[in-house]
Amino acid sequence: MRIANLVLSTLFAALLLAVPAARAADPIVIKYSHVVADNTPKGQAALKFKELAEARLPGKVKVEVFPNSQLFDDDKVLEAMLLGDVHLAAPALSKFEKYTPQLQLFDLPFLFADMDAVDRFQQSAAGQKLLKSMEKKGLTGLGYIHNGMKQISAHNPLRVPADASGKKFRVMQSDVLLAQFAALDATAVKKPFSEVFTLLQTKAIDGQENTYSNMYSQKFFEVQPYITESNHGLLDYMVVASTEFWTGLPADVRTTLEAALNEANAYGNKIAAELNEGDKQKIIASGRSQVLTLTPEERAQWVEVMKPVWKKFENEIGKDLIEAAAASNTRS
Ligand code: LMR
Repeated sequence: MRIANLVLSTLFAALLLAVPAARAADPIVIKYSHVVADNTPKGQAALKFKELAEARLPGKVKVEVFPNSQLFDDDKVLEAMLLGDVHLAAPALSKFEKYTPQLQLFDLPFLFADMDAVDRFQQSAAGQKLLKSMEKKGLTGLGYIHNGMKQISAHNPLRVPADASGKKFRVMQSDVLLAQFAALDATAVKKPFSEVFTLLQTKAIDGQENTYSNMYSQKFFEVQPYITESNHGLLDYMVVASTEFWTGLPADVRTTLEAALNEANAYGNKIAAELNEGDKQKIIASGRSQVLTLTPEERAQWVEVMKPVWKKFENEIGKDLIEAAAASNTRS
């Protein structure tokens, strides 16, 4: 009996020792959730991160990428992140207004002349500081990913702002974007990305604003006969993690992941313009949607009507920040 007891307790002790050993060998699972297709700048950056992270930390890290809102929509993902249900996400900069007013900066219409200016600003001290603007809320910004400039699609041709009057548009979760359409005497509704196709198809809304890459990969062009090439606003992303998760990673793992993320984001940024141009050409070739290019006079009308939105948000965003961003349009 005593021998049996001894054997049992030895076995039990061995089991107790074995469990932590097995746990220590389990890879750290990183769930990366986003809402777009794989063949988009963000989709490609997320897959590149998986490739680099798993190659550099073999057996230590497993990255699971969930595209197309499979895991969470952008209106839910940040709450889920704070609860620890997802570890990385890259929502559009327009989707952080509950967490910081400052990122609304990026939604101001006609703020950036082109993507080089966006890049200059994001890499500047002011742009890098914004990555830390949500730390008090438990979110750490880890970098930016470009998509590109937004265009406006609609059921009817929009050449001048008056053509949008009385129409209904879908926007991301941003008060600046609501104000931008209000300036056109139109209405706008905040809706998750995953609902846009159906809203357009059923004509519950008249139009939406997005990049060519999103309009192509989500098939918006099949249900929107006109796309106005307005380049009026930016669609870019911030890669975020919960501060608790990120700072809780072993230091060597975190450093390797940060380097992998920087490289992956740079890769996404490098192919973004090419992907958008390619998708624009595919939309044109489909014959389903007509791309309307504006004359300088027509474009000037959009600028004149939309730009006063800046003033409305100047206090919330900060005048200095707006000036710093606008200054990035001139090369120093
Ligand atoms: C949108 O909701 O239109 C975009 O944020 C989708 C995306 O992530 O590009």
